[in-house]
Amino acid sequence: MKRFENQVVVITGAANGIGKACAQRFAQEGAFVACLDVTDELNLAVAEEVRSLGMGAIAVHCDVTDPENVKASIDTVMEKWGRVDVFVGSAGIYTGAPLAEVTMEQWNRTININLTGVFLTNQAVVPIMMKQRSGSIINISSMAGKTSWVASAAYSSSKSGVIGLTRSVAMELAPFGATANAVCPGNTLTDMVRNVATKVGGMDGMTGEEWLQMRANDCPMKRLAEPWEMAGVVAFLASEDSRFLTGQAIEVDGGLVMS
Ligand SMILES: NC(=O)c1ccc[n+]([C@@H]2O[C@H](COP(=O)([O-])OP(=O)(O)OC[C@H]3O[C@@H](n4cnc5c(N)ncnc54)[C@H](O)[C@@H]3O)[C@@H](O)[C@H]2O)c1
Repeated sequence: MKRFENQVVVITGAANGIGKACAQRFAQEGAFVACLDVTDELNLAVAEEVRSLGMGAIAVHCDVTDPENVKASIDTVMEKWGRVDVFVGSAGIYTGAPLAEVTMEQWNRTININLTGVFLTNQAVVPIMMKQRSGSIINISSMAGKTSWVASAAYSSSKSGVIGLTRSVAMELAPFGATANAVCPGNTLTDMVRNVATKVGGMDGMTGEEWLQMRANDCPMKRLAEPWEMAGVVAFLASEDSRFLTGQAIEVDGGLVMS
């Protein structure tokens, strides 16, 4: 029997990067997957890939900042499968600028997608998990939620917020036997990081590849992560092996934050 046989997994940001790796992982382990994202074409392709693994999948257009859209998306999942066993909140954006240059538009967009998006989606699935008296929420924060660096005011604030929010959700879910945890990835090779590398590296006179190599050298394990390495930890947090683990924010960063 597969670990997530016939379980229903909802993933935001499923169209790309870490969310996509989670969709693949849960499908490989027997789950039905609801892929929620704003990038429809890529999202449809991920759902198709899940179906090609023999599992049910739906691609739902969901902007995590829109309360009505979030509610309608979870309603769609409930109409189709009638339960939510696992929720993964991976939708997010990276924004970086020195404090003095952060515009209100940039601040609001970062907080809305990275923090309010997690709030709205968690709010939509928590009552379902309470009623089921089971479930796992895994919100993707960042090492930037545990530490900060220059030009990261909005991003770090949003990701620290995800950790605080996750702890509160964990407290509310605990009496119902359901869990909520955050994963704090280090630099992981996704489009998000490649775009940052090109942009930030360019400002420092480096190619994207040189910038990525510099980031890898900062890490005690001297490399960046692959998206599947985040999906493995997410799957553990959704599994029976972690039923007594809740309210934690786990650094999956090759030792970067501890160093
Ligand atoms: N890649 C890294 O190094 C890294 C490190 C730490 C944390 N993270 C976090 O991991 C998560 C996933 O990042 P990734 O690297 O896979 O990025 P990515 O850009 O590859 O994927 C992010 C996905 O989120 C979706 N998205 C963006 N705004 C949305 C919205 N309003 N509603 C719904 N979906 C939306 C995008 O369409 C995209 O498919 C993010 O929360 C990110 O902050 C990533």
